[in-house]
Formats: sequence, structure tokens, C-alpha cells
Amino acid sequence: MAIRNIRTEGDEVLRKRSKEVAVIDQKIKDLVEDMIDTMYHAEGVGLAAPQVGILKRIAVIDVYDETGVKVLINPKIIREEGEQFEVEGCLSVPERAGSVRRPAKVWVEALNENGQTYVVEGEELLARALCHEIDHLDGVLFIDKLIEEA
Ligand code: NI
Repeated sequence: MAIRNIRTEGDEVLRKRSKEVAVIDQKIKDLVEDMIDTMYHAEGVGLAAPQVGILKRIAVIDVYDETGVKVLINPKIIREEGEQFEVEGCLSVPERAGSVRRPAKVWVEALNENGQTYVVEGEELLARALCHEIDHLDGVLFIDKLIEEA
């Protein structure tokens, strides 16, 4: 597999809305593998397809707990609860960090790389990562929502 180039702020691809994945074919599976490799190589907790220049609704997340990497294809927030205001960063905005309002807990429905529907329930860092990566799929960066620069 391969490490892909991570696009940074100013690249128009980060500001576009990604398209739903209709069929999970080998090309999509290869992309998912590359995204996971690229995320680990960059030591990130999440990566969305537009960050590697592909406008498809795919994200990968690993918050380095015991649950492992999550592949999220066509993810949707189906429920959220509470709020939190923690500092975020982004591999596409390497020089900045700051606090963003996010739900304390979210439930996200998505397809995995085998096309099975599942629900990820996330709190704390996982809740932030889920919201942050889904924002990328809509062309939204955390700096658009900054409450305070860190
Ligand atoms: Ni990001």
C-alpha cells in the first residue's frame, strides 16, 4: 500500500463537498488502506478522503484505544448528546490548534470496508474525531469553528 500526500489549507479540494460512495469496489478498498497507512505515518487520529484529494465520503479514525481503527464510509451522525470544548488540530492545518464546540457524545452510522452498516458510539476524543472527520466531508475545517486559538 502507499502513503498519500496530505493536502493542506488553501487547497480547494478541502473546501468541496464529498460524494457518497455507491459501490465499495477494490479501488475504494485500496484507498481505505492507503488512508490508514497515511494516517499512521502522519501520527494522526483521523483522516478524511478529501485530505488526500479524493472527494468521497470516507474517513478513518484511530484514537489508539483498544477498539482499533474505524473505517467510516458514508458516515452520518444519528444522535448527539451534551457538549465539550477541547483543543483540536488537523493534519491539513499543521500550524494551528484551538478549541471547538463538539457534542460530548455522538452516535455515527456508517458502512465499513465490507459494506456492512454499523454504529460507532463515541465520547471525548472519539466524539471529537468523528465530528471533525465528518466536517471534512462537507468541506468544513476546524478553524471555521474555532472558539479560541491554542
Ligand atoms: Ni482534520
